[in-house]
Amino acid sequence: KKFEDNIKTVLKNRMKEDVLQLLLKIREVSEVRKEKVYIVGGIVRDLLLGIENFDLDIVVEGNGMNFAKELGEKLNAKKVVLHSKFRTGVVIVDEKLKIDVASSRVEYYEYPTSLPVVEYGNIKQDLYRRDFTINAMAIEIDYNKFGRLIDYFKGYSDLKNGKIRILHNFSFVEDPTRIIRGIRFAVRYNFEFDAETKRFAKLSVEEGFLKRLTWKRVKYEIELILNEKNPKKAIYMLEEYGVLKAIHKSIKLTKKTEVAFKNLEKYKEYITKLNLKQWIVYFLVLLEDLNSEELTNIFFKFHFPNKFIEKYKFGKIKREKIIDELKSSEKKSKIYNSLKKLSGDLILLLLITVDSEKEENKILEYINEIRNIKPLIMGKDLIKLGYKPNENFKNILNISFMYQLDNQELCKEELLQYIKNLNIFL
Ligand code: CTP
Repeated sequence: KKFEDNIKTVLKNRMKEDVLQLLLKIREVSEVRKEKVYIVGGIVRDLLLGIENFDLDIVVEGNGMNFAKELGEKLNAKKVVLHSKFRTGVVIVDEKLKIDVASSRVEYYEYPTSLPVVEYGNIKQDLYRRDFTINAMAIEIDYNKFGRLIDYFKGYSDLKNGKIRILHNFSFVEDPTRIIRGIRFAVRYNFEFDAETKRFAKLSVEEGFLKRLTWKRVKYEIELILNEKNPKKAIYMLEEYGVLKAIHKSIKLTKKTEVAFKNLEKYKEYITKLNLKQWIVYFLVLLEDLNSEELTNIFFKFHFPNKFIEKYKFGKIKREKIIDELKSSEKKSKIYNSLKKLSGDLILLLLITVDSEKEENKILEYINEIRNIKPLIMGKDLIKLGYKPNENFKNILNISFMYQLDNQELCKEELLQYIKNLNIFL
């Protein structure tokens, strides 16, 4: 009883005022409809950890769709979307807030590879079909039990001890994406797999369960895990559990990729600087040692756009040549010309794989300085000088820009003078 009171206060204190007000409204609907309602899943876990989480998932012991409709009216929500197949509803309150409302349900499988049969169940059954104990807790939104923690599977204890634990032995058989999810949570919260869960996870990968998933689901999970705060640690754990080679037999950590990942940690801020997607950068590093055929295969399965693939392959083919060029380039114009054709991803890959500090610094100079320089002379300036537009304009502007890059102290007038002195138009 004392523990429950403590938890109640902790949870209430941690809820932001607006969330609390919202839960009170949900409680009113529950009162009217005489259906019990709970907040469940990730938000409960994060409330207990004291971490912000804006995904509000609620489960109704009753008809989730009707509950969603009524809640939508009460909250004056913008929209309520219903999914009759899953007996769920989404209350879109406004742009920032959406509430997922589900009917508590029980899922069972008639035979191992069949789709689950879904039926109404109570909250305990609903929690039992979830992935890990830390995700299988609920908080009651009842009148007199408001804020009570429902924890049938020792989730709170696992949360305190930093353990990722499945609820039953078939968890990974039912849904192999959970192996990747588990690693994601372990990395995010610095938790460990419980010994038995670890054994089941590794065994499930060895048995090839991940191969049963569609590429879309695998990609979704990979995207999520590599977008977390510590993608390097996630990759090492994915390797440890055999997930990398289950995705494709050639994906593995090698000396080269390990060095690249280490360097990437050093230059992580460049992902945002170059406007890149974190997961793509980490994924491309993993593919560093693959041959052209293997790359094509994976890009195809992961549905990368053709334009992206072309640019990547172009950069990959040119890599040696670009490094050679950089070695003999001291001038900014030369560095610019060598690197301008590369996409941001490839520039960052080059930065973390180049083995000479001198060239590394040139790439840094390009990213931090050269690529941001704007040409001082434009076509209209040439026209002002009295020149008629012709096919030579592009070349002149290019010559002018190269000269500007290598002589940055020059002002616009001096550059124009330089162009005149070239006497090209005569
Ligand atoms: N869930 C599950 N098995 C899955 C996916 C989800 O059991 N393969 C359950 C878990 O109880 C989870 C809840 O559904 O807590 C909500 O899923 P999701 O929103 O994907 O995860 P969160 O736990 O909220 O994680 P995150 O913080 O990354 O959003």
